[in-house]
Order: sequence, then structure tokens, then C-alpha cells
Amino acid sequence: RAVPVIAIDGPSASGKGSVAERVAAQLGWEVLDSGALYRIVALAAVRAGVALDDEAGVAAIAARLPARFDAGRVWLGGDEVSTEIRSEACSSGASQVAALPAVREALLARQRDYRTRPGLVADGRDMGSVVFPDAGLKIFLTASAEARAERRYKQLMAKGLPANMHDLLSDLQERDARDAMRAVAPLQKLPDAVLLDTTDLDIDGAVAFIVDLVRDRG
Ligand code: C5P
Repeated sequence: RAVPVIAIDGPSASGKGSVAERVAAQLGWEVLDSGALYRIVALAAVRAGVALDDEAGVAAIAARLPARFDAGRVWLGGDEVSTEIRSEACSSGASQVAALPAVREALLARQRDYRTRPGLVADGRDMGSVVFPDAGLKIFLTASAEARAERRYKQLMAKGLPANMHDLLSDLQERDARDAMRAVAPLQKLPDAVLLDTTDLDIDGAVAFIVDLVRDRG
């Protein structure tokens, strides 16, 4: 029997990352934060002096990315980049490199390698459509743009990073538009995905909803 996967897709700052982590912890499953991979690729490209629209150059970096995840922390080579990849510069860079088909292709096998027993919770934009189309449960996690900008604001403040509500909201809307409009693996609500709107629902509520669904479906 195939290893079960829960695919959680949705726009930025919808709470996917926190929800995926907690669902995985409750079930004792592996977790994949696919957005972090695109963020690390963007950071590695900038550090290597490769332009973010140089498709072959960025794809070469993605293909041999020395990225490591451990207990919620992230490394690029010997450098811990957990905080840096959450900056607005890396958010924007990630969505630029994510629009390049060769970059997505270069990250595909690596993402699928996370599918190990007893199961995987994967979050991103194309988990249910491209990377794990046979996922047993697909969730489209969303919230209003304002609610999402406010969450990002609080996250950045908590990390001591500079933040401005107005800029956050416009960056978020720009990034959402780029993610939804791109030709490859656009962000979309799939017909077989369950819609979960967290505008008025906290993380615990979203986690409980998903864990209940998994248990109901056996
Ligand atoms: O989820 P997160 O905000 O960390 O993702 C950063 C960027 O990476 C997104 O704006 C999106 O462009 C890209 N991404 C993607 N496909 C995924 C995950 C993230 O294109 N599966």
C-alpha cells in the first residue's frame, strides 16, 4: 500500500506551515515544507551571484542544493538560515525562482523522497496537483489577504525582523498573483481538495479539523 500523504496547499501566510507541522506531530508523520526549498534556492542563487531569472543557472543550484532540515531548523551548507529564509527578500525571490519550470523539475525527486512510512504531511502550492497527485487527503488552506498579512506581520515582529503592514499586504498580493497566474504548477483549489478557510479559525482549530478528517477516512 502506498505511503499516505496529506497535501496542504494554499496562498502565503495562510498558516500552512504551522498547521502541517502540528498535524504531522499529532500523527507521528514526516513533514515537508516545500516552500522552504524554494526559499533556500533563491538564497543560494543570490549568494552565488546567479540572477533569479537565469533559469539554467538557478536550476543547476536547485539540483545540487546542500539544504538540510532538522527539528524546524534549516541549513544551507554549513550555515543556519532558518531566519534569513523567512525575510521578505527571500519570500519574493522564492516566488520568482518557483516560476521557472526547470527549477521545479530539479526539486521534484527531492520532495518525493520525503514520502516515508508511516506518512507525510506536505505543504506548498502544488503538493496535491503535481508532487503528490495521489495524496489521500488534499486540503486547500486559505484566509483573507488582510488576515494573512497580519499574521506575517506578527511572525516577523516576533523574530525581530523589520515589518510594515502596508508593504506586507501589497507584497503578499503580488506574490499570490504570481503564484496563481504562472504557467507551471499554479496555485489552485483542486476539485478534490477540501477547502479550509482560517480567516476566523485559529491553528488549533485547523489542526483538529484535519486530524479528524484523517481519522474519519481511516
Ligand atoms: O510557502 P512559502 O511562502 O514558504 O513559499 C514561498 C514561495 O515558494 C511561494 O510564494 C511560491 O512561489 C513558491 N512555492 C511554490 N511551490 C510550492 C511551495 C512554494 O511555487 N510547493
